[in-house]
This record gives sequence, structure tokens and C-alpha cells, in this order.
Amino acid sequence: MAPLDQTRKAERAASGDSSIAARLLAWYDAHHRDLPWRVTPGAFAGGTRPDPYRIWLSEVMLQQTTVEAVKAYFRNFLEKWPTVEALAAAHIEDVMKAWAGLGYYSRARNLKACADLVGRQGGRFPDTETGLKELPGIGAYTAAAIAAIAFDRPAAVVDGNVERVISRLYSIETPLSEAKPEIRAQVEKLVPQKRPGDFAQAMMDLGATICTPRRPRCMLCPLRADCSAIHLGDPGRFPVRLPKDDKPLRRGAAFVAQRDDGAILLRKRPDRGLLGGMTEVPTTAWTARVDGATTQDAAPFCADWRRAGRIGHVFTHFALELEVFHAHIKGDAPSGHFWSLAHEISGEALPTVMKKVIEAAIPGATKKQARQRPR
Ligand code: ADE
Repeated sequence: MAPLDQTRKAERAASGDSSIAARLLAWYDAHHRDLPWRVTPGAFAGGTRPDPYRIWLSEVMLQQTTVEAVKAYFRNFLEKWPTVEALAAAHIEDVMKAWAGLGYYSRARNLKACADLVGRQGGRFPDTETGLKELPGIGAYTAAAIAAIAFDRPAAVVDGNVERVISRLYSIETPLSEAKPEIRAQVEKLVPQKRPGDFAQAMMDLGATICTPRRPRCMLCPLRADCSAIHLGDPGRFPVRLPKDDKPLRRGAAFVAQRDDGAILLRKRPDRGLLGGMTEVPTTAWTARVDGATTQDAAPFCADWRRAGRIGHVFTHFALELEVFHAHIKGDAPSGHFWSLAHEISGEALPTVMKKVIEAAIPGATKKQARQRPR
């Protein structure tokens, strides 16, 4: 470590971690993002409590995708189910449909199971990390985030943004995959007793808007004087990562059968496993470990199949390439399948990979369509 850097670390230790939290909170007061589930910074101290249902729902959704993408899903859920009791009273199929596109569908099942349980307990979420962790689908991260944001508990909330901020602030040389305990320990030291919920959100906002993965905006950072990575001259080097193993590539085929009125033949996936309980067009039996056949000979029934293209989709543990075939067919749906009318398709619980498949065969088919008058 450079002598200057050592001096800075010593200075920081002397000034105490509380000044870091104070500077971060002052920055958050001025620069926080307005998000639909948030209350105004400092509101907790003024007696305004965030709604734990909104915080829980947003945190579960935010594990799936970006803040920007979550906003629309969050608003739609709140419109349909304004309270946890309303969500508990909903049908699981409707919840899966509203979740479609967010991915990781076991989370939607757990979301519903959690709502059912909290609904049975009078709609009250536990207000501690330990109590929250006992609920379905709530792991260590989500419990800490809800405890901090909804109940102002001094919990250490560590997501990917926070890992990056801390890795840079303390120039942690340990590869990220092994540095988690070290990062957590540093966060625990920083969390203030006052406004811990705002502190958690401030760390996330700093990571998302200033301390970004590429081209961090260090000139605007409220912690630049404390940041060891800046003093080393290369913030982008942190967090240190080991070279990645490439994900395996799996292959298969998908069959989009269409009726003359535009209806598409669908089926429901088994409740357990990848994309459990979601809707799909017939496909060959690919899995994360096994390829499926990729030719039209593998179609589940005879038709005049035409190749419509190839789509790719990346899951957590593997990438998938599907050859897409398209045919017009007539008659009843084969056993285990059903026809979804053109105006119903956008409301089906279709995961993103299936939307890509259908769009490859019939562009625009998964977008909202006007209902056709019976001929
Ligand atoms: N990412 C995950 N949770 C978040 C939150 N509460 N605010 C901003 N970004 C987040």
C-alpha cells in the first residue's frame, strides 16, 4: 500500500466512520432518487413510516432486475393488490401473470406464500431481521433491507452496489467471491444508529448513480476524500474479480403453432423446476444440463413447420439457444395444451424466453392486441 494511502486510512480511522455516514446522508438528502416505494429522506425521524408491504414488494422485485424495470411492475402490483391482504386473496395464476417477464418464477410463488402467511397474521410484517428471515422467500439480504428501510433497524444491507462502493472505499484486494465477510464487516462498522434505513438506500443510490461499475463519477462523490481506490488512482479496478467460467450453452427447439384466427397453442410448465408453473409453447426437453433436439422432427405433432429463426436467452447458470419453428394448424388443442386467443397472449404468464420465441415466429404477437369481434 502506498504511504499516502496508509496515511489516509489512519486519518479516516481517527475521524471515525460516523463522518462517512454523515456525509453520505447529507448527499442522499440532496440527491436521492425518487422511487415509487420510497418515503422522503428523514421522514422516519419525523414520524412517517414507510409501508412494509411496499418495501417488501419492491425489494423482492429488485432482486430480479433494474430499478427502472421494476417501477412499472411495482405500480401494476399495487394497483391490483394495494395491501398484503389483497395479495393474499389473489389467485396464484394472476400473480404469476403479473410477474411474467421479471424472471425467476419461484420468487413469485414465494411472494404469494409470504403474502398468505403475513395476511393470516393480520397483515403485519415482523419488524426484525430474524423475524423477517422466517418468511418464505426472504433471505439474508431482503430481511436486512426490509428491517432497515421499513423499520429503521441498524441492519447491514449489502447488495451488488454496496459491495462495489465498499470494495473501492477500502481498496479491498480480495476477489469479490471471497471478500463478502470482509465487506459485510466494513458495512456493519459504517451503519449509523440514526437513519440506518436512509443510510442503506444512500449506499445503494451512490453505487447506482456515482460509484458505477464503469466510468465512476468520482468528481461528484461525497466520499471521494475517504476513497482508497481514488487515491490509488484506479477505482475501476475494484471490486477485484476472478476470471469468469463461461456458462454452458444449451440448445433446443420451440414450436409456435398458430390458428387462423391468430390464437397460439400453449401449455403450462410443471410447477417445480426452472420457470416452474409458467406458460410456454411446446419445446423439446432442454434443461440446464441437457440439450434438446433442434430439428422439426422433434415437434410434438405433425404440421407444416417452417423455420422462423433462432433466439438466445441467458439464464443464471446457462445460456440457451432455441431454433424456432412456426406452423398454422387447425382443430382442437392436443391434450395438455390450450389455445390462447390473440388478445389474451399479452396477459399469459409467458417468461421472457418464450416471448422471444413467439416474437421470432409472429412479430408483435406478445404485445397487447385489441379483442377481435366474433366473425
Ligand atoms: N436496489 C435494491 N433495493 C433498492 C432500494 N431500496 N433502493 C434503490 N435501489 C435498490
